[in-house]
Amino acid sequence: MLLTGRAPGAGPAPQTVPDAGTATATALLNCLVREVAAPDRQVRAEGAHLTVRLPRVGVELRTGLARPPAGPAHRLVPPYEERRGARWIPADWRRLADLISGELELATGHANPEFLPQVRDSHTALTAILAAREQRPADADVFLESEQSLIAGHRFHPSPKSRQGDPADWLPYAPEARTRFRPHWLAVREDVLVEAGDRAAFAALEALGPDAPAGYRLLPAHPWQLSLLSGRTALQRAERAGLVRDLGEGGPEAAPTSSIRTAYLPDADTFCKFSLDVRITNCVRKNAWYELEGAVALNELLRPVFAALGVRFDGCVLLAEPAYRSVALADRRLYEGLGVILRQGVRNLAGTPLLAGALTDPYGTFLRRLPVLSCAEGALAWWDAYVRRVVRPVLHAFLSYGVVLEPHLQNVLIVLDDDGMPVQTAFRDLEGTKLVADRWAEELAGLPARVREGLSYDSARGWNRVVYCLLVNHLAEVAAALADLYPELETHLWRVTRAHVEDCADRDHPELRALLAGVPLPAKANLRARWARTADRGATYVPAPNPLA
Ligand SMILES: Nc1ncnc2c1ncn2[C@@H]1O[C@H](COP(=O)(O)OP(=O)(O)OP(=O)(O)O)[C@@H](O)[C@H]1O
Ligand SMILES: [Mg+2]
Repeated sequence: MLLTGRAPGAGPAPQTVPDAGTATATALLNCLVREVAAPDRQVRAEGAHLTVRLPRVGVELRTGLARPPAGPAHRLVPPYEERRGARWIPADWRRLADLISGELELATGHANPEFLPQVRDSHTALTAILAAREQRPADADVFLESEQSLIAGHRFHPSPKSRQGDPADWLPYAPEARTRFRPHWLAVREDVLVEAGDRAAFAALEALGPDAPAGYRLLPAHPWQLSLLSGRTALQRAERAGLVRDLGEGGPEAAPTSSIRTAYLPDADTFCKFSLDVRITNCVRKNAWYELEGAVALNELLRPVFAALGVRFDGCVLLAEPAYRSVALADRRLYEGLGVILRQGVRNLAGTPLLAGALTDPYGTFLRRLPVLSCAEGALAWWDAYVRRVVRPVLHAFLSYGVVLEPHLQNVLIVLDDDGMPVQTAFRDLEGTKLVADRWAEELAGLPARVREGLSYDSARGWNRVVYCLLVNHLAEVAAALADLYPELETHLWRVTRAHVEDCADRDHPELRALLAGVPLPAKANLRARWARTADRGATYVPAPNPLA
């Protein structure tokens, strides 16, 4: 049966979970090398080591290197050390955070007192997650197991697990702690209910929720979010006036997915994308009013595009977001904070979906379970199938339709057959999906200005986003994890990737030609964005090595 075996050629798995200190240090060093030291030319690979200089604070660091770099990033492994005279002494995550903070302060000319607390918060959260995770078995549904497997989180973010508040408050809703919870239900009087999109979309969920009194409709709410909003006077007033009734927690079980705020309800085969007024990586995860509107508008516009892409590329799909609901009280924070987007489920996919990000942990937790990966030939065939199903629809969406998908590791489900072979791709997350403005000018003109702005990118920005998400964030990490099992394959993996990119070059696109010629890849600068405290949308890119040439 799928995912129960062990790829024999891949050897034993020595370790299956990270320790909080090492994971925190690895993420910090990954960011440091990519965003600061490499652009400053302060990185040197020598055999099994990488030395990294922080010239402004005058410190030299050394990390282990799993193998010579073949992709856009070095594969860093402990030990992490600092030079003291002629000796190398251990440098733990606290020391690394201090040094990076010092270097950035000197490099940018400003301090950021939030930085160290965010790194500490992330480490504390990871420690709590690891302890809680041990108490529970993995979900029996392997798709949900994969959604709940991003233990260390984003490998190129300085505080990937930071989530504000006491772990006791959020652990019941933490996907990495392997939880399930029941949604909180509000009954909203029909005259203050906001609903857009396909009105039938909420029916499956309503059938499973508590009974709403006559004249009221159900609004599912995330219990954590509701606790954050419970002090809002507009909500209290609405309850007293009978506009909103609190029906409590209950109904079908919800499993938090990898984005934390989106939950999957297996009984309804539906996702609910809730708002969560908590900063997770670079964004406070609230559904802004224009994102609620934008998702539903984009859902309609993209329907014919994906109908065509699906026919051409192995039935690939974009998980639909057909409707949203919220409550219209005189408080925008409530309108947005209680806004919930429905997303189509995964039951109709052609095999077993796995979250792409689940494939990338350095312990090979999922990869080792795919029968097809039991030998090097199988691994190459697997990679070819994987890249074919991810690269082609993403590049064609951009080149042929002006659609900017956001195919990072957390937004893509790869659907596998019983042997573990990729057979289909499901893309998701309409918030990150954009339209190239001049290609869609007519359709965009019909939308309110703020919605339009949220939905569109200019072509150059869209291209950077596609290339970063697809190649740097996604394929490079899956390739590196596969190369952890088969190091000798790594350069070949990039040759296969190039062939698929080349096959998409059937249009005259100068940026694609530049990509194939080897211009550096754009890598999102999460450390710099956190340091500058800029919104995710304002994050900049740094050049990273391009292995396609
Ligand atoms: N490699 C990665 N790239 C991007 N995000 C990652 C990665 N690994 C983990 N994550 C996490 O995944 C989430 C990505 O955020 P994103 O904005 O795509 O999702 P969302 O809009 O909140 O929810 P959904 O994907 O359900 O629509 C964040 O919580 C981020 O920390
Ligand atoms: Mg997402």
